[in-house]
Amino acid sequence: MESISLKRWLGRWPWLVSSRKLRETEQKFQLLLDGAADYAIFMLDTSGNVRSWSTAAQKMFGYTASEIHNNHFSCFYPQNTREAKIPQAELRIAGAHGRHEDTGLRVRKDGTEFWANVVLCPLVGDQGELKGFSNVTRDISERKQAEEILNRKEEELYQARKMEAIGRLAGGVAHDFNNLITGIIGLSEDLRDSAQLDDLGRGDIEEIIKAARRASNLTRQLLAFGRRQISSPQILNLNTIIKDLEKMLRRLLGADVELVVLLGSEIGNVKMDPAHIEQIIINLIMNARDAILGAGCITLETSRSGSSVSLQIRDTGTGMTEETLKHLFEPFYTTKATGKGTGLGLATVYGIVKQNQGDIFVDSRLGAGTTFKILFPETIEKGTATVGGNQNGVSPSTHEEKTLLVVEDEAIVRKAITRALRKGGYQVLTATSAEEAIALCISGEEKIDLLLTDVVLPGMNGQELAGRLLSTYPGLSVLYMSGYSENVIAHRGILEPGIHFIEKSFTSQSLLEKVRFVLNSSHPLPSSSPSTHE
Ligand SMILES: Nc1ncnc2c1ncn2[C@@H]1O[C@H](COP(=O)(O)OP(=O)(O)OP(=O)(O)O)[C@@H](O)[C@H]1O
Ligand SMILES: [Mg+2]
Repeated sequence: MESISLKRWLGRWPWLVSSRKLRETEQKFQLLLDGAADYAIFMLDTSGNVRSWSTAAQKMFGYTASEIHNNHFSCFYPQNTREAKIPQAELRIAGAHGRHEDTGLRVRKDGTEFWANVVLCPLVGDQGELKGFSNVTRDISERKQAEEILNRKEEELYQARKMEAIGRLAGGVAHDFNNLITGIIGLSEDLRDSAQLDDLGRGDIEEIIKAARRASNLTRQLLAFGRRQISSPQILNLNTIIKDLEKMLRRLLGADVELVVLLGSEIGNVKMDPAHIEQIIINLIMNARDAILGAGCITLETSRSGSSVSLQIRDTGTGMTEETLKHLFEPFYTTKATGKGTGLGLATVYGIVKQNQGDIFVDSRLGAGTTFKILFPETIEKGTATVGGNQNGVSPSTHEEKTLLVVEDEAIVRKAITRALRKGGYQVLTATSAEEAIALCISGEEKIDLLLTDVVLPGMNGQELAGRLLSTYPGLSVLYMSGYSENVIAHRGILEPGIHFIEKSFTSQSLLEKVRFVLNSSHPLPSSSPSTHE
C-alpha cells in the first residue's frame, strides 16, 4: 500500500474528518459540561423544554437525562413563581436582551429548595432566528448562608452598639441625675418631718418624694439596661428566691390568674445579686399578667440545662406580633397605653441577664401565649446560698458617738446627707473634694470612724481617696456612694469583695441603715486614729 501522510489520507475523505471533528467537539463539550461541577449547564428549546442535560445538572436537580428530557424548565422553579409565569417571562427577557440573570430559589426533584444564580442566554442561528436557550445554574446556597450569617452578625453588632450607646447615655445622665434626686429626696423628707408643715404642705411634699422616687427608678432601669447597675453577687439558688417571692407574686396577680410554680430539684446555684433576680421575675410576671385578658395561667419553672440554670416563665396570654418581637428588648418600646407602661421592663431584664453572662430567649405567637426562657451560668463556687443584703434591724443606738466624714461635691446632696446623718446622731464632717478631705484629716483633731465618699469626684476619685486615708488609718470604715457603675470600685458592675456601697439615690433611712451596717461589720479603730477638727 502506498504510503501517504495522514493529512493527505484524510484529505481524500473530507466528510469523515468533519464528522469526527464534530464528534470530538461534542465529546469535549460534554466533558466540559460534566466537569463544571458547580454549574448545571443545559439547553432549552425555544419554548423552554429541556433538550440537553449534564452530570452536574443531574447532581444539582436530581433528575436523570431521560427523566427531564422535554420537560419544561419551569419545574425547577418554586410553585408561586411558576404560577406567576416567571420562567416564561425570564425566557422572553433573555430573548429580547440577549441575556437574563437572576438569583432566586430553585427546586430539586425531591422538592427541597436551594438558592441559585441562573443565567439564560438565547441561541441564535445564522439568519438570526431563535434556536433555543442555554441555561447555566449555579448553586449559591453556601454563599447565601454565609451572607445571612454576616447579616445576622451585623444586626447583632448594631444592636450591641445601640445598647452600648444607650448605656453610656444613661451612665452619663445617671451620675448627675441620681445626685440631684438624692438631694431632692433627702431635703423633702426632712421638710416633711418638720413640725411646721400643715396637712396640705405635707401632702405636697409626699407627692414630690414620690415623683423623685419614680425618677430615680427610671434611671435605675436605664442603668440596668445599659449594664451599668452595680451588683453585689451572692451564691444563691433560684428556687429559694422564688419561694420567698411566691406570696408577693400571687398578690400581684389577683384571683383570675393562676400561678403554677414548678421548681426543679438540684438545679445548681448561680452567682448573682438577689435583687436583680427578683427584678427579672417581677418584670416578667407583670408582663405575663398584663397579657392575660380575663382568666389565665402563668407557669414559673426552674430546671437544670447542661451547665446552666434555666428559668422559664410561660403565660396563656395574648402572645405577640412579629413587630413586637422585633423590638421587644428595646428601651421605651411598649404597646401599652400611655401611663400604663414605660417600655423599660424587658430592657432591664435584658441588661441584667447579659450583665450576668446569661441568655434570654422568647417564644411567642399571637393568640398562643408567650414563653420566656433565661439561662444563667451555674456557679461551682461554694457559699452560703443566702438571700439578703437586708440590713434592717441593726440596732440604731450603738454608733451615735461616731464621726463620719462625708465627701461629696454636689452641695444639695452634701446638705441632705449631712442632715440625715446628724439626725441619726452622728458627728459629721464634710468635704467637697478628695484633696479637701485629706487636708481635713491631716490637720484634724477628731478621729474619723467612717468615710462616706462619692465615687466620682473632681480630681482624685473616691477610691484613691480611701486608699490614701486607709494607708495612714487602716481601721477606717469606708462606704462608697454612686449613681452608677463606675469601673473604679466595680469591674463590669460587680463590686469588689469587701467593698461597701450605697446606690444613689437613697432615702435617709436606707443611708442610716447602711452606715450602721458598715460600722457594725468593720474593725474597731486603732488607738492611733487621726485627729480632725471641723
Ligand atoms: N408576656 C407577654 N405577652 C405579650 N406581650 C408581651 C409580654 N411581655 C412583653 N410583651 C410586650 O412587650 C412590650 C414591652 O415590654 P416591657 O416589659 O419592656 O414594657 P412594658 O411592659 O410595656 O412597660 P413597663 O414594663 O416598663 O411597665 C409590652 O408592651 C408588650 O407589648
Ligand atoms: Mg413590662
